[in-house]
Amino acid sequence: MDMTTARRARTATRYLSAPAMVRLVQTLGIEACLRGIAEHIRADFGRWPDFDKSARVANHSRDGVIELMPIADKTLYSFKYVNGHPKNTRAGLPTVMAFGVLAEVDTGRPLLLSELTLTTALRTAAMSAVAAQALARPDSRVMALIGNGAQAEFQALAFHHLLGIRELRLFDTDPAATDKLMANLRNSGLTLTRCTSTAEAVRGADIVTTVTADKTNATILTPAMIEPGMHLNAVGGDCPGKTELHADVLRAARVFVEYEPQTRIEGDIQQLPADFPVTELWQVLTGQAAGRRAASEVTIFDSVGFALEDYAALRFVYAAAERLGLGDELDLIPDLEDPKNLFGLLQQRGWIVNQATACPRTAPECYAESL
Ligand SMILES: NC(=O)c1ccc[n+]([C@@H]2O[C@H](COP(=O)([O-])OP(=O)(O)OC[C@H]3O[C@@H](n4cnc5c(N)ncnc54)[C@H](O)[C@@H]3O)[C@@H](O)[C@H]2O)c1
Repeated sequence: MDMTTARRARTATRYLSAPAMVRLVQTLGIEACLRGIAEHIRADFGRWPDFDKSARVANHSRDGVIELMPIADKTLYSFKYVNGHPKNTRAGLPTVMAFGVLAEVDTGRPLLLSELTLTTALRTAAMSAVAAQALARPDSRVMALIGNGAQAEFQALAFHHLLGIRELRLFDTDPAATDKLMANLRNSGLTLTRCTSTAEAVRGADIVTTVTADKTNATILTPAMIEPGMHLNAVGGDCPGKTELHADVLRAARVFVEYEPQTRIEGDIQQLPADFPVTELWQVLTGQAAGRRAASEVTIFDSVGFALEDYAALRFVYAAAERLGLGDELDLIPDLEDPKNLFGLLQQRGWIVNQATACPRTAPECYAESL
């Protein structure tokens, strides 16, 4: 390897676009991706104390939120940029859009810049399945799926492949969303039943997944709908003022969360006093706390999405992309012969200080135009 190639190998960042991520999922298959991400989540949650954790930083506006989600251990650092704008679909944009970075802690070098919209759907579904493996009744076969938007098929397939769910009972206030889901999953092996209300969909279900989007304190599930032994996978309540469960549903169940300081602000439990008892999932996954204790218990995963899930998903995606040779090399970081001579980059091709080569205008004119 010559010096230039060696230097480039040191600075290049792998870039995984949304189309490259589609190719990755098509190549591996969605079941393998869900299983792979679930395994990475389980492994990383299993070494919870190794991570430098914080609640995500959220910038709220009238119609949505934009969030930054950083986390690191001694080896790798990751962050995700993600939004949540329930009204977006009316303007032809997804409710949730994301991208993120995986970097080397030793040097700070970004290893991967990746799309994370598709990846978020996969990791959220994988996380829900990991939680349900610990909390739902092992004989669960029927799931109600309330909210049939962008995340829904991923949830359906994660529960099908990782939990053994065979039948889905579907409801969405937008019938076109249910049409889309039924068309997308027609060959999945799942029995699909369209329902006319949440109450009808939930009746007799073993697991209820709520994955709706509305910037309000909604009551998708009310106490009268809850049956003994149900597991509730509450995914859509993930922001201050954006919840899905009636507070009494929470009060009557055992509630499990990802990272308590973040869920107290963002989860359905934001409706309850700060001392309402919850259990962090990592404790269940490492055997330090009990998951489901009885077949009749009602359990709730109050999911909001935690940075460690994206860290795990980025690790999975990076390894898979490297193995499959997917993605491009991105010159995000300057390639420097002498790392102290950053200014020297500007002097390539004979350019010298204070001399503009391409622009015939004076510097003040160029500056004024750029404003
Ligand atoms: N917990 C997490 O880790 C996590 C991760 C990603 C997304 N989310 C959340 O999941 C939710 C769904 O995301 P998405 O990308 O699928 O959004 P989406 O807008 O594509 O789909 C949401 C669906 O919910 C339906 N809906 C709204 N109100 C409803 C109601 N009262 N009853 C039934 N259906 C209703 C809408 O018609 C829509 O089809 C969002 O709130 C998002 O913020 C959570």
